Amino acid sequence: MSNYHIKNLEEYYQVYRKSVRNPELFWEEVAEEHFVWKKTWDKVLNYDFSKPEVKWFEGAELNITENCIDRHLATRGDKTAILFEPNNPDEEAEKISYTELHKRVNQFANVLKDNGIKKGDRVCIYLPMIPELAISLLACARIGAIHSVVFAGFSSSALGTRINDCEAKMVITSDGSFRGVKTIDLKGIVDEALEDCTTVETVLVAKRIHSDIPMKEGRDQWLQPLLDKASEECEAEVMKAEDPLFILYTSGSTGSPKGMLHTTAGYMVYTAYTFKNVFNYRENDVYWCTADIGWITGHSYIVYGPLANGATTVMFEGVPSYPDFGRFWQIVEKHKVSQFYTAPTAIRALAKENLEYVDKYDLSSIKVLGTVGEPINEEAWHWYNDNVGKKKNPIVDTWWQTETGGMMISPIPYATPTKPTYATLPLPGVQLALMDEQGNEIHGNQVDGRLCVKFPWPSMARTIWGNHQRYKDTYFSAFSDKYFTGDGALRDEVGYYRITGRVDDVIIVSGHNLGTAPIEDAINEHPAVAESAIVGFPHDIKGNALYGYVILKETGEGRDHNNLRKEINQIITEHIGPIAKLDKIQFTEGLPKTRSGKIMRRILRKIAHNELDNLGDVSTLLNPEVVQSIIDKRLSSELVS
Ligand code: WT7
Repeated sequence: MSNYHIKNLEEYYQVYRKSVRNPELFWEEVAEEHFVWKKTWDKVLNYDFSKPEVKWFEGAELNITENCIDRHLATRGDKTAILFEPNNPDEEAEKISYTELHKRVNQFANVLKDNGIKKGDRVCIYLPMIPELAISLLACARIGAIHSVVFAGFSSSALGTRINDCEAKMVITSDGSFRGVKTIDLKGIVDEALEDCTTVETVLVAKRIHSDIPMKEGRDQWLQPLLDKASEECEAEVMKAEDPLFILYTSGSTGSPKGMLHTTAGYMVYTAYTFKNVFNYRENDVYWCTADIGWITGHSYIVYGPLANGATTVMFEGVPSYPDFGRFWQIVEKHKVSQFYTAPTAIRALAKENLEYVDKYDLSSIKVLGTVGEPINEEAWHWYNDNVGKKKNPIVDTWWQTETGGMMISPIPYATPTKPTYATLPLPGVQLALMDEQGNEIHGNQVDGRLCVKFPWPSMARTIWGNHQRYKDTYFSAFSDKYFTGDGALRDEVGYYRITGRVDDVIIVSGHNLGTAPIEDAINEHPAVAESAIVGFPHDIKGNALYGYVILKETGEGRDHNNLRKEINQIITEHIGPIAKLDKIQFTEGLPKTRSGKIMRRILRKIAHNELDNLGDVSTLLNPEVVQSIIDKRLSSELVS
């Protein structure tokens, strides 16, 4: 059916119009033709944004792993499902066929069951990018357990907060991980996190770095011996369409991380459909997304979307700079990668290095290039297009979010003409609106506003785990009857969208979504700190970096500022992780505040951006004099290591 694989622009518009005219019929046809169901739905869509409540394919029964694995066995049993490329290029790549994947997922699922995990239980996964990571997600889904993957770069305290929030019964981790020349003691981080957790009964430990680590009697178990004993058959649990599939945490502008809850049928249909179309995936292609499965990109477009299409999906354990900056391109050549999906921050980092690292390798297998995570700047887009795509491969700039589950705005290769820095057009089924600050929809083209979605799409998050009110407040309260993304966007003369960035206090650093509040909370834990405020400022490689304004208590006044800076970053590393470290820390006597006591981040942002001529009216501030003193002492190049 043509719906499922769009070939040209005219067809895109036809399909798009159909998806808007009759969304239920549109998604019903996709769902009917491309998936296996134990029972089909009674109703395609039921929704009410005022509650908000959204249900897709109600009444249907399925198991996502049967769609991702079992149904491919007859036709693709020997095809590589997961192609694992280790950190060390001298270690052999591992090709896991669909048949092998079926066996390993079933064994893992049986181990989960043997250890008391039942449908609906939460399992926290804290693993590096090794095959066990993908397999553990699928094993949870096989038995209906809800996985909650925590990116293995997060600190023990960030891990602990997430384990406690979802009351996980089990943690799956490894004895450590390889990242370039470094090894990281993941199990040690888990042990620390679990000091403050009471719900975890079992920790399963995969062996990766073969280090000698302490195992806690009665709680910790090595994974491999359990797998070796487990049966290779595990019947897939019958799941209802709206049964939870996973929780994944994302930062908010305030408060604790939000556990976005994704459910089964809609998520499966939407991620599979978008994967097929946005990457123009064909049967013998080798697809590679460089993200970590700890982020939504990896959930949707390393694991579920590709496998639901019977694709070969590459999992890379390492980093782009090891053993040198040619690593990505060496892997593309080695495995003849057809679709390559990465983040602007990686592109910018690689673009700074010698072109020989790219030119040395044969990249002729590439057909489609993708980018995700933050706006891609013009220069990076051209570098990617010229040097990796050789000016002949379409670049899909895909805009979406943890909350949206799947891509929302993206060119369709060979159909949508691309335009640097534009994510271009909404995918079928995605109905966008730009809103002004008064809450009115802005119609027409060549306009900008706040980006909203005005109709449900199948893979949207259904709630925030344990806090539906917060879900409503965060996403459905700013504009009535619409999902608010938190991003600003402009629509050009032909209706293409360009994302201009966050309009709230979330800052995207190297593609990682960071809320200011948790970082400020961490800094304020330092005994010498009275108050702090974080803003973003433009950075060549990271896109944005963090600038902190810190007020010291009297006890901190005489102290060495460089030592204090190091200590502050140490605290941030402990509470959140190294990704949230500040690049600049300015000590100040005050912060600009409104009369109601709210910090005027707008002014701090301008100072950090060095845009001093246009600070706006500061006279209404509670403490206008503080602005000049901050300007006088602003930091230009001082970087914290
Ligand atoms: C935020 C969501 C989607 C997976 C990775 C990030 C920004 C994402 C783009 C893009 C401009 C983008 C937005 C969005 N963003 N993709 N192609 N162009 N901005 O997921 O951590 O939930 O972050 O990332 O600001 O709201 P996330």
